[in-house]
Amino acid sequence: MIILKNREEKLKMKESNRIVALVLKEIEKKIKPGVKTIDLDKFAEELIRKEGAVPGFKGYLGYPATLCISIDEEIVHGIPSERKLKEGEIVSIDVGTIKDGFYGDGARTYAVGEIDESGKKLMETTEKSLYIGIEKAIPGNRLSDISNAIQTHIESEGFSVVRDFVGHGIGRNLHEDPQIPNYGDPGMGPVIREGMTFAIEPMVCEGKSWKTKILPDGWTAVCEDGSRAAHFEHTIFINAEGPEILTVA
Ligand code: MF3
Ligand code: CO
Repeated sequence: MIILKNREEKLKMKESNRIVALVLKEIEKKIKPGVKTIDLDKFAEELIRKEGAVPGFKGYLGYPATLCISIDEEIVHGIPSERKLKEGEIVSIDVGTIKDGFYGDGARTYAVGEIDESGKKLMETTEKSLYIGIEKAIPGNRLSDISNAIQTHIESEGFSVVRDFVGHGIGRNLHEDPQIPNYGDPGMGPVIREGMTFAIEPMVCEGKSWKTKILPDGWTAVCEDGSRAAHFEHTIFINAEGPEILTVA
């Protein structure tokens, strides 16, 4: 069942997602060779609490940290640690918050120092596919119109769409109906309506395979072929006129 949000609930989601966007903006300045991922996590937790929210992922299904930090071939759910970022890596940071009972959720991939052209293209294509998907989130369209638009763009650039993780409805719960795959035929699934709130999050492997595996830590998802991955996520609200991105600082 897809839970619609009213005006007041939308405002609360705007606030929890504003804090997500603030973290993603502020953390960009800290992404440099030599920084430990655990220190990025500490910084994010402090900022979230200073803004009157709490980390949304910490404790969720036993997840141990505030951020998910996924480097190079890691796609999502990398656990912050003593590992230091290195020049040339790409690093995906996923942030969740809860404030006033509502979740915020957003992610983006950053370059550490200078990166190669293919890495830049991977990041640009993934981010662009997110915006192309969001454009389809219009009342009257069907859910898989979003999915298909994302997939079409990513594959047109020669990259692979991860199937094992998907976007989702979001609200009082981090994961609500519907699931929002980043692939599929258009014209399927529920009709999009005003008041729906979606976390749209394309995850892309650089190589030809979209297969994933989970590392022995039980969380970190990687591209099975060892190719690098990018991940961009926005939480959006569906207005009568169309989508509104809530993850803005
Ligand atoms: N953005 C991810 C998601 O929507 C983050 C979840 S991490 C978890 O699923 F630890 F909270 F599971
Ligand atoms: Co999400």
